[in-house]
Amino acid sequence: MTNLPSSTRTIPDVTAVPRHIAIIMDGNGRWAKKRLMPRIMGHQRGVESLRTVVKSCRDMGVPYLTVFAFSSENWRRPFDEVSFLMSLFLKMLEREIASLHQNNIRLRIIGDRARFDDRLKQTMADAEMLTAGNTGLTLTIAANYGGRWDVMHAVQNLLRDRPELATSFNEEDLQPYLSMGDAPEPDLFIRTGGEKRISNFMLWQLAYTELYFTDTLWPAFGRHALELAIASYQHRERRFGRTSEQLQAGETGESGA
Ligand code: IPE
Ligand code: IPE
Ligand code: MG
Repeated sequence: MTNLPSSTRTIPDVTAVPRHIAIIMDGNGRWAKKRLMPRIMGHQRGVESLRTVVKSCRDMGVPYLTVFAFSSENWRRPFDEVSFLMSLFLKMLEREIASLHQNNIRLRIIGDRARFDDRLKQTMADAEMLTAGNTGLTLTIAANYGGRWDVMHAVQNLLRDRPELATSFNEEDLQPYLSMGDAPEPDLFIRTGGEKRISNFMLWQLAYTELYFTDTLWPAFGRHALELAIASYQHRERRFGRTSEQLQAGETGESGA
């Protein structure tokens, strides 16, 4: 699946299941706090929501699911919480990888790995390698990921490989260097936990994505909540700059200019 046309050019059929869902899994801490439990219990329960959502996407035939697990800004949290999240990530990979593989799921991890410890780096690489040939759902976990980092890193690598493009590169040149360069751009973005912001997630790729915000806290998000989000998406009109009348007349090309 390389060289897909940018979703800002072609109009996907919204009545079909989204090709790519991107989720900011937020609200773990508040879920726990409401139950007078430490924040980390919310993270622990959050893993169960992820399991349910992965299974639901697989059942519904969603080809790509990308989830934000740890942002480049989350290092600012208390040391104990960061350490817990790192060990949870490691445990989750070790525990779940066999079943992801059995379910034909391809696991990928995006973000800057330099700051992770060696054992976590190795486990990530092993998990990706084991599942690389799988053809079902592509599950991408964004860890120490930031949208600005992604774009900067892509530009740096493009210019390293093709210095002659320094003053003339275009979107198509940059595309393969972005973290999700070979995946369709997200059709549907979901943020749980009530905040209405992007928090430095996939800034480039979300350019024309349909946004869905819910107050449901991530540990309480399940199959039904996902179905509601998809149903909301299926009633959107994606215009990508055109008018509603043009779309109704079936004019979806580049004409006009
Ligand atoms: C999201 O839940 C998980 C991570 C950022 C790792 P939070 O931990 O941000 O939960 P709230 O927003 O404090 O409730
Ligand atoms: C965004 O959640 C990152 C993840 C869910 C991993 P945060 O809870 O860290 O976002 P902000 O900082 O409140 O925007
Ligand atoms: Mg939060």
